[in-house]
Amino acid sequence: MALKITVIGTGYLGATHAAAMAELGFEVLGLDVVEEKIDMLRRGEVPMYEPGLEELLRRHVAGIEGSSGRLRFTTDYAEVAAFGDVHFVCVNTPQRHGEYACDMSYVDAAFASLAPHLTGPALVVGKSTVPVGSADRLAAYLAEHAPAGEDAELAWNPEFLREGFAVNDTLHPDRIVVGVRSERAEKLLREVYATPVGEGSPFVLTDFPTAELVKTSANSFLATKISFINAMAEVCEAAGGDVAKLAEAIGYDDRIGRKFLRAGIGFGGGCLPKDIRAFMARAGELGADQALTFLREIDSINMRQRGQMVELARQALGGGSFLGKRVAVLGATFKPDSDDVRDSPALNVAGQIHLQGGQVTVYDPKGMDNARRLFPTLGYAESALAAVRGADIVLHLTEWSEFRELDPAALGEVASTRLVLDGRNALDPELWRRAGWTYRAMGRPTA
Ligand code: UDX
Repeated sequence: MALKITVIGTGYLGATHAAAMAELGFEVLGLDVVEEKIDMLRRGEVPMYEPGLEELLRRHVAGIEGSSGRLRFTTDYAEVAAFGDVHFVCVNTPQRHGEYACDMSYVDAAFASLAPHLTGPALVVGKSTVPVGSADRLAAYLAEHAPAGEDAELAWNPEFLREGFAVNDTLHPDRIVVGVRSERAEKLLREVYATPVGEGSPFVLTDFPTAELVKTSANSFLATKISFINAMAEVCEAAGGDVAKLAEAIGYDDRIGRKFLRAGIGFGGGCLPKDIRAFMARAGELGADQALTFLREIDSINMRQRGQMVELARQALGGGSFLGKRVAVLGATFKPDSDDVRDSPALNVAGQIHLQGGQVTVYDPKGMDNARRLFPTLGYAESALAAVRGADIVLHLTEWSEFRELDPAALGEVASTRLVLDGRNALDPELWRRAGWTYRAMGRPTA
């Protein structure tokens, strides 16, 4: 009989995982403690913008015309425990308020709610990004609190999906990493992934701590690459070099690779910044803090980029204060193809300029509602053209394809001054210059 799967937590990770599992042919039950989210999902609506996810979901959510009916949702842990053979825990682990460490309360609450209902054989699979050592602790918790005893087992299976590519990354992962303590757990997870998802993806079998560390070290490496190129941008800026050319040239060395070497205002979002901080905090607890002190530098290079963008804008406007200056901001989300504004470098820059007296008008293709909620005092416009109307300077802060397709000549007609700063090194400088704009980007020559 086919395995039955449950997914606990229906954010980016959980909603995508649940829909993907249904796509692979499993019967799936998704759980969230937020009723409104469950109501939306039952109607086939996704609580966030993620390309392709709504279509995937609607293909499977029970009750939707033409769907497979394999995907249902609930808020009831007893129902989840009774239904599933394999329970994926996909709740979030945000940064703890005012601290570096991550907040494990959602993970702990999920285990506390599920464990007492586990009366028969079950495999609980952690997918959330957690401090190393959590799986050991949670396995002990299950052993103590699940009535099934040893039959209720834990495995750790980190997830590497990127926002904006969540569906593709889940259905076609680069690798599947699984930390297990028994052959039974290995067999069950091999069965879950012995589907098109597993085909062609390396299956890395390991222990709990390594599985947990793979995730945090991968994110640390990515963050390091971005801060490295941003440090090079700073040197290029000082020396008159061109960081975009530099990135291209070093990237041809395939030991380095070309990806994740785009200089700009740096990384943000719900993962990289908080994951490197939680990693440092955990290393400290383990007495290995010296091993990760470089991450403090990675974090501070990253945060400095935002301030430097503000400074570049101030200088470009003549070096005085922002008072009375109209600043058009293109982009609010932390990356394109997402409506996520968590720790968004774009909004941080917009907010700093606003606080310094600038008259900021923001436009983003998908992030407007979330941005308005987080920064209600900023100005907002319904299109790029409307944001640019009357602007003394245009800041390009999230690299949506919509912005690359803008016609600089048309924008030049409505802007007060043809001055654009590209905070993502993603616009075509020549295109803008030909249309009469002064184009500036961090770490690149002025003309
Ligand atoms: C990241 C990891 O990539 C993913 O594997 C993990 O599962 C979760 O965290 P995500 O947060 O979706 O995914 O974003 P990502 O695509 O990694 O981008 C992170 C940030 O880095 C964005 O703000 C992006 O604009 C920035 N970035 C990325 C750069 O500034 N330069 C680059 O070259 C690449």
